[in-house]
Amino acid sequence: MFDLDNLHKNELILDVASGVSSFCAEANAKGCNVTASDRIYTSSPLEIGQKCRQDLDVVLKQLPEIVDLYVWNFFKDIQALKAQREKAYKLFIEDFKNHGTKRYMPVEYPSSGFIDNRFTTSLVSHFLFLYEDHINYDLHKKIILELLRITSKEIRIFPVVNLKGEKSSLVDTLMHDQDFKRFQISIKKVDYEFMKNGNEMMAITH
Ligand SMILES: C[S@@+](CC[C@H](N)C(=O)[O-])C[C@H]1O[C@@H](n2cnc3c(N)ncnc32)[C@H](O)[C@@H]1O
Repeated sequence: MFDLDNLHKNELILDVASGVSSFCAEANAKGCNVTASDRIYTSSPLEIGQKCRQDLDVVLKQLPEIVDLYVWNFFKDIQALKAQREKAYKLFIEDFKNHGTKRYMPVEYPSSGFIDNRFTTSLVSHFLFLYEDHINYDLHKKIILELLRITSKEIRIFPVVNLKGEKSSLVDTLMHDQDFKRFQISIKKVDYEFMKNGNEMMAITH
């Protein structure tokens, strides 16, 4: 999603709205320095674990109707997706149990509570642009400006499509917004594509 092959081990990475993903657990196990942040981390691992199971069942039930919106390469089929999602959330729960809010910060964006330049790189997956029907442009802008305050080098946002698989109209709005004029904004192709057309990320650098 984020083309991280060349990321240096010294980077201080923030995973934004990281939910029940295993990126933070897996990357830290590989020697990276990743902090996860999400509003759900005020709940206990047990409560989050129970909700994960229910949410995954709902998603898997709905999937056969919208199967054509996805590219079945990375995941061979729905069963493979289910197995990967279960593995990921179990890894997350274990890591959350072990490290608690030292590694999993309860944050309700746009207000993060982190000091200026606390991180070098922030990664945002499946939170902005994708949910343009729920998060309006004003809130996108506030969240991204907050991330630029707490991140010294670069923010990466994946994907740049909405839930219909169309490029989010907020992408162009943001790229032409005068308040972002002092930053470099680019759209880069990445290898990962699960949602059809969802194979690009936005990079915003200082
Ligand atoms: C679809 S999940 C994405 C999780 C993860 N990034 C991934 O790609 O698997 C969206 C996440 O955004 C979180 N979220 C939504 N609004 C938020 C906010 N204002 N502040 C912090 N987290 C938020 C939700 O709790 C949820 O975990």
